[in-house]
Amino acid sequence: MVSSIGLAVILAAILYVCATETHNETHKCEDILVHDKPHKKHIVSKGLNRPYQLAFDKHEHRIFFSHNIGSDNEDEFEIGYIEKNQMLPKTVASVINGFAIAVDNNDDVIYYGGSEGIYKENLKGMEAVNDTKKVHEVVKGHNIWDMFYKHALYFITYPTQHLYKLTSKNEIERQKHVHEEIYQFAIDGHDDTFITNETGLFLIKNETKERILYKGPKVFRAIEINNKGTAYFSGKNGIYVANKTHHALDLVVKVKNIFGLAFDNDDNIIYSNPHAIVKLLPGKCD
Ligand SMILES: *[C@@H]1O[C@H](CO)[C@@H](O)[C@H](O)[C@H]1NC(C)=O
Ligand SMILES: *[C@@H]1O[C@H](CO)[C@@H](O)[C@H](O)[C@H]1NC(C)=O
Ligand SMILES: *[C@@H]1O[C@H](CO)[C@@H](O)[C@H](O)[C@H]1NC(C)=O
Ligand SMILES: *[C@@H]1O[C@H](CO)[C@@H](O)[C@H](O)[C@H]1NC(C)=O
Ligand SMILES: *[C@@H]1O[C@H](CO)[C@@H](O)[C@H](O)[C@H]1NC(C)=O
Repeated sequence: MVSSIGLAVILAAILYVCATETHNETHKCEDILVHDKPHKKHIVSKGLNRPYQLAFDKHEHRIFFSHNIGSDNEDEFEIGYIEKNQMLPKTVASVINGFAIAVDNNDDVIYYGGSEGIYKENLKGMEAVNDTKKVHEVVKGHNIWDMFYKHALYFITYPTQHLYKLTSKNEIERQKHVHEEIYQFAIDGHDDTFITNETGLFLIKNETKERILYKGPKVFRAIEINNKGTAYFSGKNGIYVANKTHHALDLVVKVKNIFGLAFDNDDNIIYSNPHAIVKLLPGKCD
């Protein structure tokens, strides 16, 4: 996915950051524009291997993610999280090959998707008990590709790329109205649905069937809905927002090689790159 030039730039950037950090830990602020306004990059955690699938716990301010714990050419995933004001991740050990994450912040419940199914955990008092006792299996025998939560848990299976919903009775229901083989799925604040497939990004307006192709990037690693109900997309060259009047994606932040995307309670963007989780805060570096 990454060109060799892109990779060289990333490597150079990593070497540069490491060098300046060992030299002077406090001197590493970097400016960046978000919606044309100056922001600074705050490193939440680093030294990770491809942190993916970010999710924010709005009550305890924890950031969940999955990351690669295998060798570089053999992917093996694990779910971890970072507590507020800490840098070192903790592990959700009980999920086999845990990759996908979705959080239901109204009920304080988090879902973990792995190669064997989906597991559910209550976010309250999470750290108090050994996690294997509190993580419950809710879906069995499906390899989970991606998940999304709005009023219910939606998940995409691998390798079929079909969309399912977990009902309130814990039954799984194929979502036949999305007949495509999809990579991502999200419902925004207007109850409009976004899907992505090999062709690109499509909008399906609430209660309609028409697929509206969006102009702009075609490949994404994440779709995330912010607290206001607006859909954001992480593409190859940056973070984009859906422009629903023009059916196009508008660039919000120019930053390369983003893996995951999330929002904190104030709608500050949290993203991950191949090695770190970064938060973008308004203001300039001193
Ligand atoms: C690191 O940078 C800070 C802020 O620029 C400065 O006050 C401090 O003296 C520096 N420390 C070292 C060890 O260079
Ligand atoms: C958690 O509990 C499981 C099963 O009771 C046990 O096998 C495992 O060693 C425990 N882990 C920790 C970190 O205590
Ligand atoms: C979506 O459509 C349904 C049925 O027409 C309607 O009840 C609901 O309010 C709509 N959602 C939004 C956010 O407009
Ligand atoms: C992706 O979905 C769109 C909308 O349904 C469809 O037209 C297109 O053929 C699909 N692409 C592939 C590669 O299946
Ligand atoms: C949508 O795009 C058009 C054309 O680029 C622009 O004029 C408009 O301000 C955008 N809308 C939003 C909500 O950003």
